[in-house]
Amino acid sequence: MTASQNGSDSTLWPTPSAARVFSERRRRLLDRYPEPALFVAGFCRPRNFPANQHAFRAESHFLYLVGRSLEGAVLSTGGGNAVLYVPPPDAEAVLWAGPQSSLADLEKELEIAVRPIDELSASPELATLPPQDGDTAEWLSERLGRDVDSGSGDDLDGADAKLADVMVELRLRHDAAAAAQIRQAVAVTELAHRGGMAATRPAIREAVVRAAMEQAIIANGMTCSYGSIVTGHGEVLHNERHDGVLEPADLVLADVGAETPEGWAADITRTWPVSGHYTSTQRTIYELVLDVQRAAIDAVQPGASYRDVHHTAGRRLVSGLVELGILRGDAQELFERGAAALFFPHGVGHLLGLDVHDMEDLGDRAGYAAGRKRSTSATDRFLRLDRDLEAGMAVTVEPGFYRIPAILDDSERVAPFVDALNRDELDKFSDVRGIRIEDDVLVTAEGNDVLSRSIPKHPGDVEATMREARGG
Ligand code: GLY
Ligand code: MN
Ligand code: MN
Repeated sequence: MTASQNGSDSTLWPTPSAARVFSERRRRLLDRYPEPALFVAGFCRPRNFPANQHAFRAESHFLYLVGRSLEGAVLSTGGGNAVLYVPPPDAEAVLWAGPQSSLADLEKELEIAVRPIDELSASPELATLPPQDGDTAEWLSERLGRDVDSGSGDDLDGADAKLADVMVELRLRHDAAAAAQIRQAVAVTELAHRGGMAATRPAIREAVVRAAMEQAIIANGMTCSYGSIVTGHGEVLHNERHDGVLEPADLVLADVGAETPEGWAADITRTWPVSGHYTSTQRTIYELVLDVQRAAIDAVQPGASYRDVHHTAGRRLVSGLVELGILRGDAQELFERGAAALFFPHGVGHLLGLDVHDMEDLGDRAGYAAGRKRSTSATDRFLRLDRDLEAGMAVTVEPGFYRIPAILDDSERVAPFVDALNRDELDKFSDVRGIRIEDDVLVTAEGNDVLSRSIPKHPGDVEATMREARGG
């Protein structure tokens, strides 16, 4: 185990963004939205008694503009000014939670005017964004004197809708500090994936591999940006069970990402063999998914449409399946009829940023360009992003191949392809349940930058990494 694998590599400890990053973001917000607005941080949801709280993580729009998870705080903007309202330090809390920052401390650290929350005046005309939990929405509704629903980004109107559009405009293209934060999250996620490959062996539970991966994240001062998927049943797309015992012939699909304390996410998937060696059938499908992913990443260019990236992946997958004899017929025609979704039923990726699916709290207004709508076609219905790509955007590229019984045993779903689907050929790949390969990609002026490129991905590199971890 290297120094960095056991978590002692302090160079990966998160580096906070400078206070001026947030004042610059607030200035850009005020330029685009000069009217009054409120951004809530939100509240912790305790369990069985008020002090049984899990770590608090503020709402993402608040984090974007303030950079610190301050429970119960509100950022007020308008008229060229930004003021942060916070609950004053509680003298009692020192006993349980240690020293509390005073308002003056916060003012100095965050370089913003700070006032006690009781001085916040609010009225129904103030614009705001939907919080993610009901308690915060209720608190905000009382303050504003109007109903604010939680998680209702698709139904906004009036000033709230305008504010949401401004936030999308600001957050779609990452500034240098945001890109640096995502890179930090990716670097720690690399340790997690290497740690997972090293920990994998037959007859252990998936939970043991998950623990090895999350250990790297926790030991480097980060948290998970979503519930880790570490499974021998990759055909369950977002499988969050970890109780399975890994068999030597299984593949582990690990979709695990770190999040920095400022909230910036990585979202990365690798699929590796429990035995340390892909069987020839697993390798064949793995190489096909890798080829599909390479083509899709190449299509990530400024000016390109992300829907085309998705279609590039689907088209390449169908051609590969025709070459393997799993599908029969003309690849282009099969793709147009929706054959890709038999084995790859989700979108090829999504926006990545402060949230793993960035800004999906605002519904499709972030993922879909004005005038574009979700399609109901099998190929596109789970496509979460339909915009023309611009330098500064970060996206995931995550094609997969899955043998999903709920699809392949559904006679209605398969009916249009009964003649095309060669089940005898497909059955030869029965040791492949699900393979997904996911990287985080920054769109640049020249093309793209695969931020997670150094996480082993080519089958030979994955096998070598596992071999080295096992001592040769
Ligand atoms: N980890 C969730 C996703 O890949 O979208
Ligand atoms: Mn993922
Ligand atoms: Mn993803």
